[in-house]
Amino acid sequence: MADEGFRTIWLKPDDPSIVQIIDQRRLPHEYRIHDLASWQDGLVAIQDMYVRGAPLIGATAAWSLYLAALRGDDIERAAAALLASRPTAVNLRWAVDRVMRHAAAGTADLVGIIRADAEAICQEDIEICLGIGRHGLPLLEKISREKGGDTVNVLTHCNAGALATINWGTATAPIYLAHQAGLDVHVWVDETRPRNQGSQLTAWELARNGVPHTLVVDNAGGHLMQHAHVDIVITGTDRTTRCGDVANKIGTYLKALAAFDNGIPFYVALPSTTIDWGIRDGLTEIPIEERDPDEVSHLHGISEGSLLTIRTTGSGTPVSNYAFDVTPARLVTGLITERGVCDASEPGLAGLFPEKATA
Ligand code: MRU
Repeated sequence: MADEGFRTIWLKPDDPSIVQIIDQRRLPHEYRIHDLASWQDGLVAIQDMYVRGAPLIGATAAWSLYLAALRGDDIERAAAALLASRPTAVNLRWAVDRVMRHAAAGTADLVGIIRADAEAICQEDIEICLGIGRHGLPLLEKISREKGGDTVNVLTHCNAGALATINWGTATAPIYLAHQAGLDVHVWVDETRPRNQGSQLTAWELARNGVPHTLVVDNAGGHLMQHAHVDIVITGTDRTTRCGDVANKIGTYLKALAAFDNGIPFYVALPSTTIDWGIRDGLTEIPIEERDPDEVSHLHGISEGSLLTIRTTGSGTPVSNYAFDVTPARLVTGLITERGVCDASEPGLAGLFPEKATA
C-alpha cells in the first residue's frame, strides 16, 4: 500500500514463539491483531478466514509450519492438515511444498530453516506484488492518456489487495502506484457476496490509502459497463492453469462475460506462485471450494457499536455456497505478472516463465 510498512503477517517483535496476523473477519469495524501460538491456530486462521487471499494463505501456512517445528510437533502432520484447509488457492500447496522441501534438505536447525523460508516467502511476495504494480501501471497510464487525463475507472472483484497478500496486493498494486503517481483513478468495488471481501476489505484498504472508490452490489457491474463507467476490470486469481484459465472469487466469470460483451479489457493480476503448471483446463481440473451455507444465509455487521450476525433467509431454506468460479482464458485480455503482461495462453505464460513451462 502507500503505507510501505504495512504487513498482514509478522513475527511478534519481542516473542518469536508468536506469529501475528490481522483478524480480517472484524474489518472494517475493528482492527484487531490476533496471535498464532501453534500450527493449529494457523490452521483455524486459514479455515475460518481470519486471513484469506491466495498469497496470504500460503504465507500463513509457511508460518504455521514454523510454529509446528518450534513446538516440536510433527510437521508432516501439520503440512497435511494445512494442505486440506482451502482447496482452490494453489499458493497454499506451493508454500507448503517449498517449506517441506527446504526442511528435508536442511541441516539440524529445522526451526531456523523454516523461519528463514517463511520470512523469505513474505519478502518475495512484497517484491512480486510491486513487480505486478510496475507492469500494470502502464495499462492505466495508457487509458488516462486516451481519456485526456480524465478519471480512469477500474472495476475489481473480491479483495486482491494488500490484505490478500503481504502488502500492495495483486490487482490493487497497479492502482496504488497509479494513485501515487498522481493519476486520476477511481475504483468500483464489488461488494462480493457472500463474505463481502469487497465492501469490508477492499473498501477499507482503498480508503486507508486515499484512493477514490465506490462500493456497488455485485450485480451492478454489467450496468456500469453498458454505460461506459468502467474502463478496465482487474481482478486477482487463486489458481491459474498453464493455459491461462483463472479461478477467482465466485462472480468473477460473470464480470468477464459482461466485459467481453462491452469490449472492456479484462485483466487478471497474479504472482507466478498462483500458476498451477500441472494443469491445463480450469473448468475440469481446478477444485472449487464449497463453504459453510451460513455464509450465504447470514450477514455480519455492526449495530450501535456491537458486531453482530443476522440470518436473512427463512430458517429452512436450502443453500449452496460455491466460493470460486473459473473464467476461461478466452475471456481474459491479459495476465499481469511480476515479469510483465502476457496473453492468457500457454505460449504467453511460457514466454514469461520458460523455466517453469519446461520443468
Ligand atoms: O475466499 P478468499 O477471500 O480467500 O478469496 C480471495 C480471492 O478470490 C482473491 O481474489 C484471490 O485470492 C487473489 S488474492 C491476491
